[in-house]
Amino acid sequence: MAKLTLERLLQSQGYGTRKYCRALIFDGALQIDGEVVDDPGFIPADPEKRAYSLDGVAFRYRPQLYLALHKPPNYECSRKPSHHPGVLTLFPDPIRARDVQPVGRLDHDTTGLLLLSDDGAFIHAQTSPRRHVPKYYHASTAEDVSQDLIAHMLAGVQLHDEPAPLKALECSQLGPRLLQIVLEQGKYHQVKRMLAACGNHCAALTRVQIGGLTLQGLGLQEGQWCYLEAEHLAQLRGQAEGE
Ligand code: URA
Repeated sequence: MAKLTLERLLQSQGYGTRKYCRALIFDGALQIDGEVVDDPGFIPADPEKRAYSLDGVAFRYRPQLYLALHKPPNYECSRKPSHHPGVLTLFPDPIRARDVQPVGRLDHDTTGLLLLSDDGAFIHAQTSPRRHVPKYYHASTAEDVSQDLIAHMLAGVQLHDEPAPLKALECSQLGPRLLQIVLEQGKYHQVKRMLAACGNHCAALTRVQIGGLTLQGLGLQEGQWCYLEAEHLAQLRGQAEGE
C-alpha cells in the first residue's frame, strides 16, 4: 500500500485532489499537534493519534467514517434523490466527498436514527438479515391501537410480496395511538405495510434505536449528526462499554 504521506492523508479525508492538498500543505494551511508542517511528503507516525487542523479548523484522521444522523422529514436516503434533498446534503463537504452511504433506508417522511458509513463490510453486516440487528420504531397510528393489532403484529403479518409472514420482535403500546415496534428485518415500508395489513394506518414513524444505540443517548436533535466512536459501535453490537 502507498505510504500515508500528508498529501495522501489530506486527500483521503475529502479535502480535494492530491494536487490541491499538496498546495494547501505548501501554503502552510496544515498544522499537526499545533505546528505547521509544510512538507506534503512527510509521513506522520501514529496518524490516528495526531491532532490536525486545516486553515485553523480541527479534524481527526479517520481511515473510515461511521456516522449517525437524526434524520429530519422530507429528506431521501437514496443517493440519487428525486423529490426531496438527499440526507448527504446535511453533511459538510469533506464528508460528502468520501464514499459515504446510508446503512439501509428510511422513507422520506420517516425521522430518527440513520447510520451512514464508507465501510462496505460494516454496511453489509448491519443490513444482513443473518445478523438480526433489532431496530426500534415509534409509530403513531391514525386509529386507536387494539389488543388484536398487537397480537397480530407479534404472531406475524402476511404482506403481498413476502413468502412468509413477518413478525415484530416486540410490539408494545406507549399511548392510545402510539406503538413501539421492534423489527429485525428491514423490508420496504415494513412498519407501514404491517400496520396497514392489520387494519390501521401509520401516521408518523421515527426510528429511536438500532441494536443498543439510542437516539436519546447520542443526544441528537433533528438534522444533527455525529461521528460514531468505539463505544457507540460497541452499543450498536449490544455490548456494554469495556466488553
Ligand atoms: N418501516 C417503514 O415503513 N418505513 C421506514 O422508513 C422504516 C421502516
